[in-house]
Amino acid sequence: MNSNVPQKGRPFEEILKELDSFGKDDPKYKEAKTWSLVYYLNEEYTQFLNDAYSKYFSANGLNPTAFKSLKRLEKEVLRFTADLFHVDYEACGVMTSCGTESCMLAVKTYRDLGRSKGIKKPEMIIPETAHVAWDKGAEYFGVKIRRAPLDENWQVDVKAVEKMINKNTVMILGSAPEYPHGIIDPIEKLGKLAVAHKVPLHVDSCVGGYILPFMEMAGIDVPVWDFRVDGVTSISADIHKYGFAAKGASCILYRNIDYFKHQVFANQDWPGGVFASPAFLGTRPGGAYAAAWAAIQANGIEGYVALAKKTIEVSNLLKEEICKLGCFEIIGKPIVSLLAFRSTDKDVNIFAVGDVMEEKGWHIDRLQMPDALHAMVTAPHEKVIEAFIADLKDAVQTVREHPELAEEGQAATYGMISHIPLRGMVRKQVIDIFANSYKLNATEIDLSDSSAVAPGGGESEGEKKSLMDKIINWYVKKKS
Ligand SMILES: Cc1ncc(COP(=O)(O)O)c(C=O)c1O
Repeated sequence: MNSNVPQKGRPFEEILKELDSFGKDDPKYKEAKTWSLVYYLNEEYTQFLNDAYSKYFSANGLNPTAFKSLKRLEKEVLRFTADLFHVDYEACGVMTSCGTESCMLAVKTYRDLGRSKGIKKPEMIIPETAHVAWDKGAEYFGVKIRRAPLDENWQVDVKAVEKMINKNTVMILGSAPEYPHGIIDPIEKLGKLAVAHKVPLHVDSCVGGYILPFMEMAGIDVPVWDFRVDGVTSISADIHKYGFAAKGASCILYRNIDYFKHQVFANQDWPGGVFASPAFLGTRPGGAYAAAWAAIQANGIEGYVALAKKTIEVSNLLKEEICKLGCFEIIGKPIVSLLAFRSTDKDVNIFAVGDVMEEKGWHIDRLQMPDALHAMVTAPHEKVIEAFIADLKDAVQTVREHPELAEEGQAATYGMISHIPLRGMVRKQVIDIFANSYKLNATEIDLSDSSAVAPGGGESEGEKKSLMDKIINWYVKKKS
């Protein structure tokens, strides 16, 4: 045996202590030093969600007739969501495990709706900034993507979308907001197109679904983006993001059952019994639904409105302070709590700034096309804004004094990966590195190290390295 499983089981307490020790190098989300991935309020609230989750820890939503409790919890979460999105209870939907599942389900639904109308080569039109879950869905379900460009406001160009609609279009997409820059697409205009051309319109509000309605209630100006817009046929929204539920909880809602039916899978001939399933998962985690329900009950409308208000105050402050440094600009004009900022000064390499910030303990995502850093703001970030800006100022100074930082570490890798025109080669290389990191004897992904590409997968290590070298050489030659 290569694993370190003991012959005899160990005491619970000792195991739990060891689990704690594994997380010592993880992003410091409890100190609000993480600008993505985690939606964390405080320990008391987290313990409460834990308790709610545990009550239905073993319950399974696979068979909705068995655990009636789970069906009820799911329905109540969806009814609350339907109220928020201004659709009546004619609407139809399910809870899923994550935003990606919700988005991919919509791709499957509209592909099958298209098939039912005789469309054999389905296409979907998505904005350039659509979440990558849509690309994943298209790849999994064999739907061709037509990627619509953005206009000068970083919103999808509606005229371009209209030009792309053809007899094979099974759906169009708008985001509210998109993840990279926090920009809301012009949903009302897309709605008009959807109605005129009789094509379904999905709104991806995975990140915005549980903050936009509360911003509106708080009196903040928010464009109409939900089922109030004619033509919107479905919306995805993740309660495990700004709904502050436990991870593993998203929703997808359709305006009516005629769309939803195409999402449902059934097999009447399985020896295990007649089987039907509304989403991807077989076993469905009861705990996640219980925690989502509990989060709604604990925050209430007022709690969510207060959180939304605070979150927007904090992100506005962050945007202001970033701009005051004089070498950055915010991309577009995001009104929600996600933002991207890029360098306006050729001596301040944004990825090098990211590296220095990471050394200072901040977990911050890098964007490409254009190169930028990303922040997904939550209310608890209020307490760290000052420290973040001080570190950012310091990081700018360090990068100015050490231009070589742009050619080292992750800055070099991200810079190279985002600018190489041979995108197919980059994709191949990324798949290699990523797949190898899942080998059971691999340690971790190190993007800064091209030799992280371990042998295996068809090519020798030498060949793989030369692939990377080829990419770099080709690019350097082209540039010079
Ligand atoms: C707009 C949008 N769609 C989909 C997703 C995917 O959600 P998840 O990471 O829960 O799968 C995200 C994640 O941030 C998102 O922002």
